[in-house]
Amino acid sequence: MQAILVTGGTGTLGRAVVRCLVEGEGAAVAAEVGAGGAAGVAGAGAGAGAGVEGATGVAEAGADAEGAAVAAEAADAGVEVDGEREIRVLSRRPLPSGVSASRLGSGTSGTSGAPDPSAGRPSGANEPPVGLPGTPYRHLVGDLLNGDGVDAAVRGVRAIVHCASMNGKDDVLATRNLIDAVRRSGGRPHLVYISIVGIDAIPLPYYRAKLAAERLVMESGLPWSILRATQFHDLLATVFAYQRWLPVTLAVKGFRFQPVDVRDVAARLAGLALGEPAGKVPDMGGPQVRDIRDLAATYDRAYGRRRRVVCLRVPGGIARGFASGANLVPDHRVGTTTFDDFVARERERERGNRQGKGKAAGRVRGVRGPGAEK
Ligand SMILES: NC(=O)c1ccc[n+]([C@@H]2O[C@H](COP(=O)([O-])OP(=O)(O)OC[C@H]3O[C@@H](n4cnc5c(N)ncnc54)[C@H](OP(=O)(O)O)[C@@H]3O)[C@@H](O)[C@H]2O)c1
Repeated sequence: MQAILVTGGTGTLGRAVVRCLVEGEGAAVAAEVGAGGAAGVAGAGAGAGAGVEGATGVAEAGADAEGAAVAAEAADAGVEVDGEREIRVLSRRPLPSGVSASRLGSGTSGTSGAPDPSAGRPSGANEPPVGLPGTPYRHLVGDLLNGDGVDAAVRGVRAIVHCASMNGKDDVLATRNLIDAVRRSGGRPHLVYISIVGIDAIPLPYYRAKLAAERLVMESGLPWSILRATQFHDLLATVFAYQRWLPVTLAVKGFRFQPVDVRDVAARLAGLALGEPAGKVPDMGGPQVRDIRDLAATYDRAYGRRRRVVCLRVPGGIARGFASGANLVPDHRVGTTTFDDFVARERERERGNRQGKGKAAGRVRGVRGPGAEK
């Protein structure tokens, strides 16, 4: 049995990657994203271990044909080796019992909270199996910081998409523990790591940790690919959403972002995982570079908030790094979904959820609740 492991497969990005791999959702997106999806394949033969940075840039050529190849592979909905295929997910928290892989993509996970007594063992050991019937999907509960369950998770895998993050310096320890577990397993899986654009120019402590984790991946002696992406739409939306209780929306003067849709990034990572090690692949950004003031105003408008966006000047190296545009990759506008598209999609999803809840409440009470109108 060989498999692909997605660490942090219950997080924003990890969920989307799992969805691409389990449901073949990457097929359409990988084809759309083209150059991105092709990256892993284009770098074929780049070799293992450190020193394959030369692979950067080769992905752009022949993107359509190779994107289609990735799409065809992803359409196969997973990995099939010796007649058996499996996508594994590792995270600290278990999914709620009976959650399907399809719902995994819509924010279900990470809410169950309580630690699982079966830590380190397949969640199926004492609760209903996760995943759609017949899909090769397995959720493992473990912890990359203390190593619980990691040996079992990496056993026999042919690729690992490392999306787990503690959003701080612990990312280095987690990455080291992951690599050590792989070494103990005796395997040589393709390690695919997601990083962030501009981490070498912006002195945020988290970015330093990402840089150190990248180095561990490159020096691991394993075959590897590293993709740096710009901020996800979700992240900016969260920053604006947190400010809903303030009378104005605060932003930092001079900051620009090139937010990218997490699904586009996931499709590219899935393509990488299904392909050969490619080293450092071209950075990936969203379709538009926009001033933060403008992004904040878009968000506020979409949510019906009528208020001012107040831009503050912030001193220091971190602010200078962002103001210099080190977080942008205008020559790599790979993503296809704009921030406006994303916000509209989220609004639609939230309305759908509310209506769904209303209908359910109506059914329970045996009356037509306000949400059960349609
Ligand atoms: N967000 C962005 O804008 C952005 C942009 C570019 C790159 N990235 C990179 O993309 C990656 C994923 O980001 P994200 O926004 O999807 O993160 P996220 O939503 O915070 O998800 C983090 C995941 O890591 C898991 N995790 C945390 N601690 C763990 C541990 N000790 N052991 C095992 N799993 C653990 C979490 O699950 P549990 O809590 O259940 O364990 C969760 O599944 C990160 O490496 C980030 O640097 C993010």
